[in-house]
Amino acid sequence: MCGIVGYVGNKKATPVLIKGLLSLEYRGYDSAGIAVIEDGKLLVMKDKGRVANLQEITDSINPDATIGIAHTRWATHGKPSRENSHPHMDNSGEFAVVHNGIIENYHELREFLTEKGYKFSSQTDTEVIPNLIHYYYTNGVKTNTPFLSAVKSAVDDLRGSYAIEVVSSLYTDTMIVTRKDSPLVIGKGNGENFVASDIPAILSYSKDFYLLDDNEYAVLTADSINFFDSSLSEHSKPIKNIEWDATAAEKNGFEDYMLKEIYEQPTAIRETIGAHFHLGEKCDFPEIDITADYLKTINKIYIIACGTAMHAGLVGKNAIERLCHIPVEVDIASEFRYRNPIINEKTLCIYVSQSGETADTIAALKLARSKGAKTLAISNVIGSSITREADYTVYTHAGPEIAVASTKAYTSQVVLLVILAMYFAELLGTTEQSILDNLKASILDLPTAIETVLDQTEQVKEFANKIYTEHDMYFLGRGTDYCVAMEGSLKLKEISYIHSEAYAAGELKHGPIALIENGITVIGILTDPDLVEKSISNLQEVVSRGAKTFIITNQKLTNTSFDFIINIPETESIISPIVSIIPLQLLAYYISKNKGLDVDKPRNLAKSVTVE
Ligand code: G6P
Repeated sequence: MCGIVGYVGNKKATPVLIKGLLSLEYRGYDSAGIAVIEDGKLLVMKDKGRVANLQEITDSINPDATIGIAHTRWATHGKPSRENSHPHMDNSGEFAVVHNGIIENYHELREFLTEKGYKFSSQTDTEVIPNLIHYYYTNGVKTNTPFLSAVKSAVDDLRGSYAIEVVSSLYTDTMIVTRKDSPLVIGKGNGENFVASDIPAILSYSKDFYLLDDNEYAVLTADSINFFDSSLSEHSKPIKNIEWDATAAEKNGFEDYMLKEIYEQPTAIRETIGAHFHLGEKCDFPEIDITADYLKTINKIYIIACGTAMHAGLVGKNAIERLCHIPVEVDIASEFRYRNPIINEKTLCIYVSQSGETADTIAALKLARSKGAKTLAISNVIGSSITREADYTVYTHAGPEIAVASTKAYTSQVVLLVILAMYFAELLGTTEQSILDNLKASILDLPTAIETVLDQTEQVKEFANKIYTEHDMYFLGRGTDYCVAMEGSLKLKEISYIHSEAYAAGELKHGPIALIENGITVIGILTDPDLVEKSISNLQEVVSRGAKTFIITNQKLTNTSFDFIINIPETESIISPIVSIIPLQLLAYYISKNKGLDVDKPRNLAKSVTVE
């Protein structure tokens, strides 16, 4: 999705903006652009394609400007082209804007402006914004803050979601930013200030951030940041220190971010367990004030998320149902928000989102709140939108995840959901303490178990070498192994572009087995001791139809005719998905590498999906 960077300070703005855009590349984009104020005039440099192309343009011009806005665009309205790239200027060339999000009423605004004589050179929804600002600047009510008032009047006309940066040749030291339903953070420096849609873009410059709220405005110069509410009353705002290390968002010798992040999982899990429990002690979540009395009133839990986070939710469902005896439904956020779900004050809704900015997940959260349910957010990004909307927030501590395909965020989400389930179970007294104590010991062993699996990377690579040219694959499992099958299949699709399907192993004979033919690859996950025999029978059915089988198991398999077996350490079955997903992440990774694809930035995908 689109990315935003901004700089106002005392050094050349363009290199700072280019560096910021490069660190946002992982979000997925098709064009890039920068506007700076050079010698009192707006200078716009932009084109479709990579930031590297843009850098060639900016290097050849090499402006001295010390203020500028920048953008990577992921096309929504209008194809990727120079004209449609941001920044966009108004007709007079006095205001330049970059925008993330979607302006839903841009047609009517365009008609209004066209009637007033404005012309448009792009097909974007964004181009109405600088022209509206110009319109209100020249026609609006006169105030003693004309620039800010014009931006506010323009923004008042917008329907939809937006994060916006504005600069003007009439105010050469000032930048104005605002947002609604699209993230924007401000990094405070010394004699310089930064803006970004995503923290990693400016992490190497500042660790002190202001998190802009919906409908809030910030006016930035090199030495000041002033905040205003939607009526333009000024207020102060707390600053947050972000603990992430800038090097955490770099490759550190790994070929790709995804591989680095796969290898970071033992650490991410250790950090996420943090102080939530120690062996022999009860779980603790001091950051949320959920009480036993409140939990006893709950008769249903929803876990709502998108993509990989939804798969983590499926594993969480099993843990909560088994340990807390509360029914849990897992829902895809984009479905949940439109299906009029039955929610009331006896429902607890848990939202899982790595970025905390996924538009559908945020909308689904707002829906549950409006119906009186309590909401709990699980996010990896401090202060992200979802955490600001929810009643309660708990954080995974996976560190910045840059690769589009999620790995360490998934395993951290699962571990946190399981710890949360144990916490609820201890409050409710629904599970024997000895069972919980065993589970805790097993969770503490997870980092070592994952390291053992990572030691088998070469075997996974060998299998990837054999199958990377295939066009279809199937993933089978029962119970939580089925959840892992879904996540493994998603990983493969995302980065190798190989068609794959995940099925509950018992469902195979109700249709999908018709697709099994000689030589096809079937991947089986066999970790649940209660279900393993049954899954083996299903897998034997595909073997007898000529399938090539890749098995991930923590059980001793005898008398089987599988082609390739990866043995993983045995853990409590509630948490086995955290271990069994690792070989599947590696498999997807090495297949993608064999195919020569861009592992970290797969086609058409975005890391943070901030539009519906
Ligand atoms: C996108 C990403 C996925 C991610 C999903 C949900 O589709 O490509 O990797 O799982 O969004 O993202 P979230 O930030 O809400 O976890």
